[in-house]
Amino acid sequence: MKFELMSLPYETTSLEPYISSQTIEFHYGKHHSAYVNKLNALLEGTVYADKSLEFIIKNASDAIFNNAAQVYNHDFYWHGLLGSPSSRSVELSDLIDRDFGSLDSFKELFFAKATGLFGSGWVWLVLTDDKLVIETTQNADNPIRHKGVPLLTCDVWEHAYYIDYRNARPDYLKNWFKLINWEFVSDNLADAKNDLIGGYSQPCNDDNEVCDYVDAMQENEHTPS
Ligand code: FE2
Repeated sequence: MKFELMSLPYETTSLEPYISSQTIEFHYGKHHSAYVNKLNALLEGTVYADKSLEFIIKNASDAIFNNAAQVYNHDFYWHGLLGSPSSRSVELSDLIDRDFGSLDSFKELFFAKATGLFGSGWVWLVLTDDKLVIETTQNADNPIRHKGVPLLTCDVWEHAYYIDYRNARPDYLKNWFKLINWEFVSDNLADAKNDLIGGYSQPCNDDNEVCDYVDAMQENEHTPS
């Protein structure tokens, strides 16, 4: 399977003034694009050549894992942003209040985790065991490798903010909060709660039709479209 660079769901100017068109041209057009191209080159002739992105993330290692996860992570990141106001579902608002106390408390904890993450990585809002949690992952690592269902992610690799904010990650984060696509987060939560196989998180190590079916179902359910 050849993977393709996703189409951005908005114009490159849509996230301004918080994320500039120039940042998107480099971050999406250079970095994200490079992960897709590298992944396709690495997959040629391997057992993962015809597998879904989620299957590869759950089972591969080293460079194939890193590039596959970076493709998934960036897809998820861009879909999680929006240049216009969006609304949280009642279900999401209730869970944020239940698990963090309030939206402000959620933001404070997310900010603390994101500014405290050493080096390159990602900050995630994840549904794990029917509970919302904030997780950080280093480099390309991804919650679906660790049995979590991702709902939202923030890229804190320096390439995500250096053009606009230089090394000031906190300033990037304060403005990133203004761009969250809450409808995307709400939809991910609804899918995770309503999907009977949404809780399936064990790596499918057997190469058989059942695994292929489960992986295809998961890809359909959780890959942003
Ligand atoms: Fe990135």
